[in-house]
Amino acid sequence: MNRKPIFAANWKMNMGASATEDFLKSFLSKLLGQSFPAEIVIAPPFVSLAKLTEVLHSSGASNEAQSIQIAAQNCSEHDAGAYTGEVSVLMLREFLVHYVILGHSERRAIYGETDAVINAKIHKAREANLKPIFCIGETLAQREAGHLETVLRTQITEGLNNVSDKDMAEIVVAYEPVWAIGTGVTASSQQAQDAHALVRSVIAELYGQDTAAKIRIQYGGSVKPANAAELMACPDIDGALIGGAALEPQSFLEIIRNGCSNQPS
Ligand code: PGA
Repeated sequence: MNRKPIFAANWKMNMGASATEDFLKSFLSKLLGQSFPAEIVIAPPFVSLAKLTEVLHSSGASNEAQSIQIAAQNCSEHDAGAYTGEVSVLMLREFLVHYVILGHSERRAIYGETDAVINAKIHKAREANLKPIFCIGETLAQREAGHLETVLRTQITEGLNNVSDKDMAEIVVAYEPVWAIGTGVTASSQQAQDAHALVRSVIAELYGQDTAAKIRIQYGGSVKPANAAELMACPDIDGALIGGAALEPQSFLEIIRNGCSNQPS
């Protein structure tokens, strides 16, 4: 199965509008004339979405600029109304957002998002035709206690509750072991491949082999230029969700380049 890899920069709470503009100027100049057999996505904070949209889609924007897709880092599960501090999917659509990261471990751990809330957000995102990047992953304690499979199975089953086959075709899964996020410790390619194969098999049980074979599963957790090629060479790894190493244009580009080095162009 030939799945197009997807490399997404998750900037978290970094990069205001002016830093976003500086990053893009540099990134686009480095990207000039190059094309990769991959999707490139940037997820800035909400307040930088306008700048990102302006630079990538203004008249006269280069082909390289137009090829970059925009993601949000979160969305509300509600449509509109008295939800102070929240941002709706329709507001995101106005900024030409295509993807939305949902279920990130920081949202789960720091903001208490449950599988049920994440499920509601996935449904809301699909109503607005946004593509969820649905994050799952175990903590070190869960892995060491032998609960990897149960944790991933629960997150997948509950997070995707009542998600149709049709919507499933628009979802990207990001497997991010919590112990590897922002720690500099990457899962070995064998650990990552094993977890990805498990995720794909659970999706096959729920949605059938065909959907499971098509769905893209990104790896996330301390991805860097130095480990991207090895991780992306694994048969079930279809790209990366990158935090710290995507804050620098050169490093983000090198991850994409190295990650694509084993892909047919
Ligand atoms: P990291 O973050 O690359 O800094 O480990 C990844 C993520 O949280 O998506």
